[in-house]
Amino acid sequence: MLSSMPKLLITLIIFSSILSPLAVNGQFEDWCIADVQTPDDVLLGAMDWACKNGADCSNIQLNQPCFFPNTTADHASFAFNSYYQNMKTKGGDCYFSAAAIITSLDPSHDSCKFDASHE
Ligand SMILES: *[C@@H]1O[C@H](CO)[C@@H](O)[C@H](O)[C@H]1NC(C)=O
Repeated sequence: MLSSMPKLLITLIIFSSILSPLAVNGQFEDWCIADVQTPDDVLLGAMDWACKNGADCSNIQLNQPCFFPNTTADHASFAFNSYYQNMKTKGGDCYFSAAAIITSLDPSHDSCKFDASHE
């Protein structure tokens, strides 16, 4: 019975070293995206606000890498994430009156890169 304790400890240590690469600098990477349940008109209003209050929305303009998919939800996700990453150390959050949600899945696609963090 006593001899099983070190085995348990070793198992725990191995497990935590497998899991730890998920965390970068002790923090999990996250992104802020539009909640699929939010109506487009609400997303448009929130996106407009985000773009004027800290988000860099240049990449979702025509001929820029994040213009396609050309949908309100995709553009809002980019704007929400940009706002969140730029402003989270200055009191900004991923809320937008419940129009946004946090995800641990990188929404980047093709040449459209969603920032993960500004440390
Ligand atoms: C982008 O979407 C808007 C709104 O649906 C539409 O009016 C516009 O023509 C689209 N632009 C392109 C280049 O697909």
